[in-house]
Amino acid sequence: MSEQPAFLPYGRQTIEEDDIAAVGEALRRDLLTTGPLVELYERQFAQATGAWHAVACNSGTAALHLAMLALGLGPGQTAIVPSVTFLSTANAVRMTGAEVVFADVDADSGLMTPESFVAASGRSIAGHVLKTALPVHLGGQTCDMAALADLAEARGISLVEDACHALGVAAAGATQHSLMACFSTHPVKAIATGEGGVVTTADEMLARRMRDLRNHGMTRDPGAFETRDYALDGDGTHPWYYEMHEVGWNYRIPDVLCALGSSQLKKLNRFHCRRAEIASLYDRLLAPLAPHLRPVPRGNRPHGWHLYVVLIDFTALGVTRAELMKALRGQGIGTQVHYIPVHRQPYYRGRYGAVSLPGADAYYARCLSIPMYPAMRDADVSRVAEALGAAIARI
Ligand SMILES: Cc1ncc(COP(=O)(O)O)c(C=O)c1O
Repeated sequence: MSEQPAFLPYGRQTIEEDDIAAVGEALRRDLLTTGPLVELYERQFAQATGAWHAVACNSGTAALHLAMLALGLGPGQTAIVPSVTFLSTANAVRMTGAEVVFADVDADSGLMTPESFVAASGRSIAGHVLKTALPVHLGGQTCDMAALADLAEARGISLVEDACHALGVAAAGATQHSLMACFSTHPVKAIATGEGGVVTTADEMLARRMRDLRNHGMTRDPGAFETRDYALDGDGTHPWYYEMHEVGWNYRIPDVLCALGSSQLKKLNRFHCRRAEIASLYDRLLAPLAPHLRPVPRGNRPHGWHLYVVLIDFTALGVTRAELMKALRGQGIGTQVHYIPVHRQPYYRGRYGAVSLPGADAYYARCLSIPMYPAMRDADVSRVAEALGAAIARI
């Protein structure tokens, strides 16, 4: 009997023996959460991204929320979010009580462009102050940050990058053109800690504030204490003392997961190179399937290859996306759609009414993410390309 080939998901973590050993070692230490490994991981993450400060937390969503809180975003303000992104980008804005203005995206890349940013800024809600915009580096492509930063500056606002797909891409995280950049280390991302997130920034005050906010708004810094008579006795600060100056959350990432993060960071470059190789192989193998199936155009900016997305003209092929996805799944190949435009979610439609974003709709209608992760072998890539070709020919 012939053996069933292994299932190829659209993305997955790459965990090796040294990662497992690093976690095992961390488990034998005294502190499972908020020990020295958090700080170590933060230092390594800042170095890997070229940032001054890195604040680690327990998800990419928490990272986005912390960034919005640190920015002082709140009711009466708005933030621009591209509609093609994961729910979290918009939700992080709403968690502060601020409102979302959805920007359209380029129909072929799914990215917010300088033009769609300008159009969105013209649609900001009456009586509200536009405070920030969150460019999303969709699938590892990078937005035109220099142009967006110029436009943001002209409007007196700062940018916060949703770089959850872009760890390891040159410039993402260095915050040259933004105030902060937010990352996720969910298993399908560039490195994995199970759940995890990081915010990078060049601003020390913002980093300090996010460290307090991730831990209930607590500070143990004597220099920051407000009720000094309550905090101090004749010998100095009471050893148990802490203060809270604003409401915070428990967004702490455990030491154990930071041990995994530090181990994975060492491989970031290797993982990235393998992803780039896989992308080039796909480009070559899928070229004959044009024009009805073609990869998202590469563009000329750095790419992290978090996802490999193909654009398919389902109407011309006479097949639905669901039929194609089911046919591929039947052959052990996982695919996914990134993403349903967020402005079409019932919650946001209910809140803001129907918004016309044709670029987002056109991208969504054609996109399909096919398997992409560092542990894929060349033979796996060929298998996906052949299955796609065969499925399209048969249909
Ligand atoms: C673009 C984007 N932003 C934010 C997030 C949220 O990250 P997490 O799942 O770590 O909360 C994700 C996760 O999938 C994402 O893809």
